[in-house]
Amino acid sequence: ARPPAPVNEPVKSYAPGSPERASLRAEVARMGAEHREILPYINGKTVETGRTVSVVEPHDHQHELATVHNARKEDVEAAIQGALDARHDWSRMAWTDRAAVFLKAAELLAGPFRDRMNASTMLGQSKNVFQAEIDAAAEMVDFFRFNVHFMRGLYEDQPVSDPGIWNRTEYRGLEGFVFAVSPFNFTSIAANLCAAPAMMGNTVVWKPAPTQMLSAQVIVELFEEAGLPPGVIQMLPGEGADVGDPVIASEHLAGLHFTGSTKTFQHLWHTVGSNLDHYRTYPRIVGETGGKDFIVAHESANADAVATAIVRGSFEYQGQKCSAASRVYLPESLWPAVKESLLSQLDEITVGAPQDFSNFVNAVIDDRAFAKITGYIDRAQKASGVDVIAGGTYSDETGYFVDPTVLVAEDPRYQTMEEEIFGPVASVYVAPKSQSFDEVLELVDSTSPYALTGAVFAQDRRVIAHAADKLAEAAGNFYINDKPTGAVVGQQPFGGARGSGTNDKAGSMLNLLRWTSLRSIKENF
Ligand code: ALA
Repeated sequence: ARPPAPVNEPVKSYAPGSPERASLRAEVARMGAEHREILPYINGKTVETGRTVSVVEPHDHQHELATVHNARKEDVEAAIQGALDARHDWSRMAWTDRAAVFLKAAELLAGPFRDRMNASTMLGQSKNVFQAEIDAAAEMVDFFRFNVHFMRGLYEDQPVSDPGIWNRTEYRGLEGFVFAVSPFNFTSIAANLCAAPAMMGNTVVWKPAPTQMLSAQVIVELFEEAGLPPGVIQMLPGEGADVGDPVIASEHLAGLHFTGSTKTFQHLWHTVGSNLDHYRTYPRIVGETGGKDFIVAHESANADAVATAIVRGSFEYQGQKCSAASRVYLPESLWPAVKESLLSQLDEITVGAPQDFSNFVNAVIDDRAFAKITGYIDRAQKASGVDVIAGGTYSDETGYFVDPTVLVAEDPRYQTMEEEIFGPVASVYVAPKSQSFDEVLELVDSTSPYALTGAVFAQDRRVIAHAADKLAEAAGNFYINDKPTGAVVGQQPFGGARGSGTNDKAGSMLNLLRWTSLRSIKENF
């Protein structure tokens, strides 16, 4: 069976005056004016729990968008049971039938669901229209389409057989259920953390980030509309201690598909470790965690290209991409030209709510993120040897706004060069003439515990080859003369190692392989 060949969903421009812009604007206004009730979704049904919390717009924190009912202990138990009950039929369905559900989800999202998914992401996660479109629309569609393509390659990979026998490989779902834990920063990642194991015949218990609940509900609606049977994906809103810990402790846990903070991932992995005697099968653990992603430029680099990579890599989505460029290394000879171009590009940037489609930077996700980011800025303002050359200002009066901030640190191991900030703060280190490019590469490799993304800028081919070799382990996604964000499914499979995760590349056959347990069958004739 050959499913349709995958193509990357074209990104719409929403140009002023276009019908698509008018339609999305209307959906943003409609969704912003309604007040949603978001409930746990278990066995295809919603459950009122009465344990309510509110969802607000990060850019207007007095504006409540929804009330969420958090899951109770009995909801967690019901979701696990529901996943176990649904598993038999779902895992035995032909792979083509499972694939068809996700191909249909892709078509619905490319069409009638697009505005809803984008609007919920813009309002609930404070994304501008372009950032929403490349994530909640294009990337999510791509995950579904490409994973179906990889499924086919996988299922059709069968062993050879000697005459007189027939060897077969069965790609079975894992025995038990998969726990998906998703972050706020990409709606598409949340959907894929559920979809990839589900496609491979698993049933899933999903805990979205409390700050992604508006678009999480739209994902549930999309899967339901696409024909996903009840019980295949259960959605449980709540905090980690109430949902995560009891789900992880279930003897039926067969896998953890995680994207989020290093600390939470390590906590969950420790919990798996302490329950090891008690599981029926060894749980598969797949995680993508933190980053301290770099841009390193050689003296032969194009200064404007470096400046644009900093603006886009560090400040798109307020620097809240795990792939965001947050530390930059430049030679003294290049810095004046990069600085000039950077400051003039930053002058053009406007900060504000996503309802105004012209704003490039919107709000950071919540009060905790705001406090953490502004703490780094305040310390930098007071530190000796650190120069704040752009931004450094912020306000949480209406929303959690932090202006794009550029720091120049004399010490290449100053805290903002080393620690993950997850906000619109770029730290620059200008290497003196006395420091060789090789020494700078050594600094890049050794400064942070992470290895997610990174970029090298140079014109000289020998330099590019040398940097790629020296930084071989420093980034799972390595960019040459481009910003380190914006990986496209099917083109640049995404993930990193070291402190950044298990590098099981989202949107790849490698990832799907983690969600299947093979049975080898030999038949003698
Ligand atoms: N896949 C996202 C990016 O590359 C995180 O920016």
